[in-house]
Amino acid sequence: MANELDFSGKQLLVVGGSSGIGNGIAQAFRARGADVAVCGTRARAADYQAEEGSDLTGLAYTQLDVSDPGAVEAFKPSFEKLDILVLAQGAVLYRRGEFEMTGFRTVVEVNLMSLMACATRFHSMLRHSRGALIMVSSTAAYHSTMGNPAYNASKTGAVGLTRTLGEAWAEDGIRVNGIAPGLVDTKMTKVTTDNPKRREAALSRIPLRRLGTPSDMAGAALFLASPLSSYMIGQTLVVDGGLIL
Ligand SMILES: NC(=O)c1ccc[n+]([C@@H]2O[C@H](COP(=O)([O-])OP(=O)(O)OC[C@H]3O[C@@H](n4cnc5c(N)ncnc54)[C@H](OP(=O)(O)O)[C@@H]3O)[C@@H](O)[C@H]2O)c1
Repeated sequence: MANELDFSGKQLLVVGGSSGIGNGIAQAFRARGADVAVCGTRARAADYQAEEGSDLTGLAYTQLDVSDPGAVEAFKPSFEKLDILVLAQGAVLYRRGEFEMTGFRTVVEVNLMSLMACATRFHSMLRHSRGALIMVSSTAAYHSTMGNPAYNASKTGAVGLTRTLGEAWAEDGIRVNGIAPGLVDTKMTKVTTDNPKRREAALSRIPLRRLGTPSDMAGAALFLASPLSSYMIGQTLVVDGGLIL
């Protein structure tokens, strides 16, 4: 019987694959035989060496800053075909930075506009391979996040974009789906997880009583990229230990 989770011979790109959730997803596909390229904001892979949550072993790294609208269009990939595109880039601003229009625009650019830019940049390659596109949004799409209006609006937008591209590109043989993580221990969430009080408060709201891991998110990504989910399009899977139940 064929192993549906064997990705040998498949080419993957994870934008935002330099750390955290995207990095965990990248390494999970690499462990299952895929050739994996990743992008992040820093100049070289070596710039992530000392970083917790960044393991670039065996991944082909290229710098891509998606907050620059032209950068995605100008991006020259190191591969000629693409089977699976994972969009895991994301940014958040604390201390009311998203209530300033400069901050609001930057976060929306990274979390929403760049999803469309990356999706359209790689559309023809994905059509050619009849591939899969996975967008990482957030459970923040399903409730208010009081201090972060741009994060909320952009993630809500990402869920809508997943739905619509799922329908629009079905005829191209591309399956578009998404993942909405709950609270995952990464550099983005250190502000909560490194603070004992906030960490306890967060854990008390999660029925599974633990934070999510990049590997928990990778499980959903492997499923969504595999033939096990062949009849699914436009869906965003909530992977949150029960946080928003
Ligand atoms: N952690 C959570 O609890 C949680 C919950 C729900 C959703 N999410 C979403 O999950 C995704 C991954 O976040 P994470 O938690 O893994 O955080 P992370 O460790 O900070 O990873 C974010 C990734 O996005 C990249 N990135 C940020 N700004 C970028 C830009 N302007 N251009 C290109 N890449 C950029 C980062 O690159 P560098 O490594 O160079 O900074 C990194 O690879 C994000 O979309 C986030 O919103 C996270």
